[in-house]
Amino acid sequence: MKKVSFIVIGAGNRATAYSRYAISAPDKMEIVGVAEPIKARRESMRDQFHIPEENCFSDWSEILARPKMADAAIISTQDQMHYEPAMRAIELGYHLLLEKPMSHRPEECVAIAKAAEEKGVHVIIGHVLRYAPFFTALRNVIASGRIGKVVNIDHVEGVGDIHYSHSFVRGSWHREEDSAPMLLAKSCHDFDLLQWLVDKDFTRVQSFGSRTHFCKENKPEGAPKRCIEGCPHGKPCVYNAVKRYYDDKQNAWFRNAAAMAAQFDNIATDEEIECALRETPYGYCVYDSDNTVVDHQTVNMEFEGGVLATFTMSPFNRGGRRIHVMGTEGEVYGDAGVGDLTVFTYQNRKTVVEKSSDIVQDETILGGHGGGDSRLIKALCELIATGETSVSYCSAMTSARNHLAVFAAEEARHTGTVVDVAEYEKRFL
Ligand SMILES: NC(=O)c1ccc[n+]([C@@H]2O[C@H](COP(=O)([O-])OP(=O)(O)OC[C@H]3O[C@@H](n4cnc5c(N)ncnc54)[C@H](O)[C@@H]3O)[C@@H](O)[C@H]2O)c1
Repeated sequence: MKKVSFIVIGAGNRATAYSRYAISAPDKMEIVGVAEPIKARRESMRDQFHIPEENCFSDWSEILARPKMADAAIISTQDQMHYEPAMRAIELGYHLLLEKPMSHRPEECVAIAKAAEEKGVHVIIGHVLRYAPFFTALRNVIASGRIGKVVNIDHVEGVGDIHYSHSFVRGSWHREEDSAPMLLAKSCHDFDLLQWLVDKDFTRVQSFGSRTHFCKENKPEGAPKRCIEGCPHGKPCVYNAVKRYYDDKQNAWFRNAAAMAAQFDNIATDEEIECALRETPYGYCVYDSDNTVVDHQTVNMEFEGGVLATFTMSPFNRGGRRIHVMGTEGEVYGDAGVGDLTVFTYQNRKTVVEKSSDIVQDETILGGHGGGDSRLIKALCELIATGETSVSYCSAMTSARNHLAVFAAEEARHTGTVVDVAEYEKRFL
């Protein structure tokens, strides 16, 4: 198989996760250019992959001002910085691994998909869960017909209390105005998964959600703005930023995000963390941040043929997705964090548990998102090199339409109505 070359635009957490495949499979993937404004991140990517200095840039517009220098681009800038580099990279003929959400604007999601179709390039969205063994196994159970026709799905996305506080109270996605609504930033994965599992179009959506816990009304008496200023409630508080960022020396994810530090083989220093806790939202009391995204949300979904799904996003758990698919001839239940799928078939009244060892294989450092990260980038390399698609493949237009269903659900939440997804799509397609 031909080795596939990539440039990286935005050398943060996600680009690092994907580019690790070039370390484990150097005959399949190489990184030949990078655009990243943070010097330490740019240099750590440069050094890791021996990228020539002339291919290292501090802004996406500079690397994309050059003639095409690779087969594909990983675009993993923040949510509101996807559209422009994506359109320019497509124009240059790059295949894309474009992080979700495609854009925070519905019309831009569609424009990206149309541009990809016109140019004949692959635009794969970072919907890594499609590639995670747990969910591909679930898709296979459904596609095999073992549970008959799908009628109902009950799906819960447990974001987890600590993860939620890091990303959605203090981190990059805490203000919808600067990033995206919670449903788009986090749960576009789940819309995409559900549409893929049901394999039918969305027809109607309805949604409720608000922010009731991570707000000032719940701030304990006497708590300072920043945990590091000596909070009298700091000891029992699970969200105490000093505990989460400063005391936990091994948490590279949290530490490097808070300090905007280099990613490869690096953990931000105590000095960097202290500075982040004093100067950035990562130091805020979770009850006194400037967060605007919802902290719990539900969506009722209807698909063609009357298939129904209920979806819950909640931080009030330890984290992980749980799904129950009910069909005309059987049901399947699974907890993605555990990995087992329990299949019960009505005819023979038998329960079969497909063990996690059968489903989740070779989990390593590459195993982010239940193995989805590494499998997505591997599948993209195969797609570009051989043209072969996997069961997890999704066209850019299908991804865009699944994003439109998210926007429609947000409209439903804001207007207190049921939104007809086909009618909603007509505005943009
Ligand atoms: N697929 C998933 O499961 C998943 C998970 C988390 C995040 N994401 C998405 O991935 C994207 C990136 O998230 P992340 O956690 O890696 O963020 P990050 O902040 O770690 O990385 C983004 C990088 O973009 C860089 N950048 C900023 N301006 C730039 C410019 N002009 N040119 C080039 N680079 C620039 C930043 O300096 C930063 O290093 C987001 O859209 C996010 O929503 C996807």
